[in-house]
Amino acid sequence: ELVVQTKKLGAEIQPTMYGLFFEDINYAADGGLYAELVKNRSFEFPQHLMGWNTYGKVELMNDGPFERNPHYVRLAYPGHDHKHTGLDNEGFFGIGVKKGEEYRFSVWARLPQGGAGEKIRIELVDTKSMGERQAFSAETLTIDSKEWKKYQVTLKPGETNPKATLRIFLASKGTVDLEHVSLFPVDTWNGHENGMRKDLAQALADIHPGVFRFPGGCIVEGTDLDTRYDWKKSVGPVENRPLNENRWQYTFAHRFFPDYYQSYGLGFYEYFLLSEEMGAAPLPIVNCGLACQYQNNEAKAHVDVCNLDSYIQDALDLIEFANGDVNTTWGKVRADMGHPASFNLKFIGVGNEQWGKEYPERLEPFIKAIRKAHPEIQIIGSSGPNSEGKEFDYLWPEMKRLKADLVDEHFYRPESWFLSQGARYDNYDRKGPKVFAGEYACHGQGKKWNHFHAALLEAAFMTGLERNADIVHMATYAPLFAHVEGWQWRPDMIWFDNLNSVRTVSYYVQQLFAHNMGTNVLPLTMDKKAVTGAEGQNGLFASAVFDKNKNEYIVKVANTSDKAQSLTLNFQGLKKQDVLADGKCIKLSSLDLDKDNTIEQPSAITPQESSVSMEGNTFSTELEAKTFAVYKFAKK
Ligand code: AHR
Repeated sequence: ELVVQTKKLGAEIQPTMYGLFFEDINYAADGGLYAELVKNRSFEFPQHLMGWNTYGKVELMNDGPFERNPHYVRLAYPGHDHKHTGLDNEGFFGIGVKKGEEYRFSVWARLPQGGAGEKIRIELVDTKSMGERQAFSAETLTIDSKEWKKYQVTLKPGETNPKATLRIFLASKGTVDLEHVSLFPVDTWNGHENGMRKDLAQALADIHPGVFRFPGGCIVEGTDLDTRYDWKKSVGPVENRPLNENRWQYTFAHRFFPDYYQSYGLGFYEYFLLSEEMGAAPLPIVNCGLACQYQNNEAKAHVDVCNLDSYIQDALDLIEFANGDVNTTWGKVRADMGHPASFNLKFIGVGNEQWGKEYPERLEPFIKAIRKAHPEIQIIGSSGPNSEGKEFDYLWPEMKRLKADLVDEHFYRPESWFLSQGARYDNYDRKGPKVFAGEYACHGQGKKWNHFHAALLEAAFMTGLERNADIVHMATYAPLFAHVEGWQWRPDMIWFDNLNSVRTVSYYVQQLFAHNMGTNVLPLTMDKKAVTGAEGQNGLFASAVFDKNKNEYIVKVANTSDKAQSLTLNFQGLKKQDVLADGKCIKLSSLDLDKDNTIEQPSAITPQESSVSMEGNTFSTELEAKTFAVYKFAKK
């Protein structure tokens, strides 16, 4: 029997409680959420023609119109009408296009030798086609100026193709220069020109996230400091955002993606805008002067504490970029990009997964400077455990000493950990910093992929976060996205290929918590004992909340055991006039514990909703084995 005490509302649940963690890992940004379909569009990969296949007379030039991206290509007449000069782009694991949809091809171009006009032909081709024609969509553009200019044309393919090639070739006899070659679906999420892939952004918005953390993860730190995420390079005109290496070219799973770079096309402006449009509080993380902890024994991994000024200034400028008046330097950059109003930034994270003693001594000057300039901003420090489960006991006292507002903890741990940590926060010091469970996912022992059982245990663990909402203020599953052909890390919340995406059971667990988070925790007892979550009680993990806005009681129960269990929900302390109406139950259940949704079977396991009836203020049911259930009862 679960007894919910309704008389006195418990701790307030923060609006930021359930959110999203975004990092460009597994091709989550370029090749994923960022809707650009051309790889190496500015010819700035270290091997400048990576992703391109050239033919005829193509020359690489380096005095282009964009200072930070100086390379471009020059196409000259090959000397015979039956020969071609041009180049093909392979996209990210191919270019996915859908029949009937519109795609905006754009390019910066000029006629280096002047003249009346030269033509380029733009085609979407299926190079493997056995038919009469490879091209299934084609347009011609006339380049008509000696000066650099942006040209664009819309392609409307007559067929769907997950792995097309973009082909551009000279269709007249002169010479043409091309730079920043881009192909975007016209129909991006919320219609932004430099926008996001619709199905992927929609999946994020459908969670109703309360907080959006970006841009990582390890890429904040970089493999070395030269390749750390530098937010200042990620704003302003996209044509002039420089390329950065992606720390996830290399992965611990011995997978190597030599062509994985960050175009910064999805930059801090886009992240702030996405947060705003999803209704989530933006939470940027900045580098604290340390490179990725896995690499920090190498050169260029540390900035001495006395040399941190420019890093600290980056953090202060970021706050100005987000919130500053349009008359401030960085507020003006934001306004010029189209958003004069503040992005209402309230949180900033400093450092990611730095577990050594060198971290607090670097965090300290950041905290001092941010507090002085922006006492209104809450600062997030970080702590363990690491992926082996090692807790770094000296870090929490340091976070307390430095008065960090929140501490970011990460858990990529096996089943046994998730089953034993339901009570993790029951005894945390209520007077210290609050908790941000900033990255977590159940990594099954010997089952490092998405499966139902992992998601069920995440739900069980999350009841512990919820019961402790007085101290746990944010929680974000990680990683968020993975391309089926380009992943470096599993499991992940949303998988996709070039045309489709799939929401995993872990996604639905996150969504059920976020949609049913309530406003206040309620005390709960199970068989007369306070619910602690330690090992579960009979394998049951539970939490209860009240939603003031909907006048609704919500109880979440994860039955991690092998047996169906009788369950009685008893709502005690209700006032006489507070009669509970019949309610709803939403369940995630599967007897096949290894199963999950896939691109081929995206709806194998989805939340199932049914009506349930109350007797008085009590509800009785039998909760199936291996099932997560959310029960909701509104006051009549
Ligand atoms: O989420 C994947 C990685 O896990 C993150 O980049 C890092 O913070 C953690 O080690």
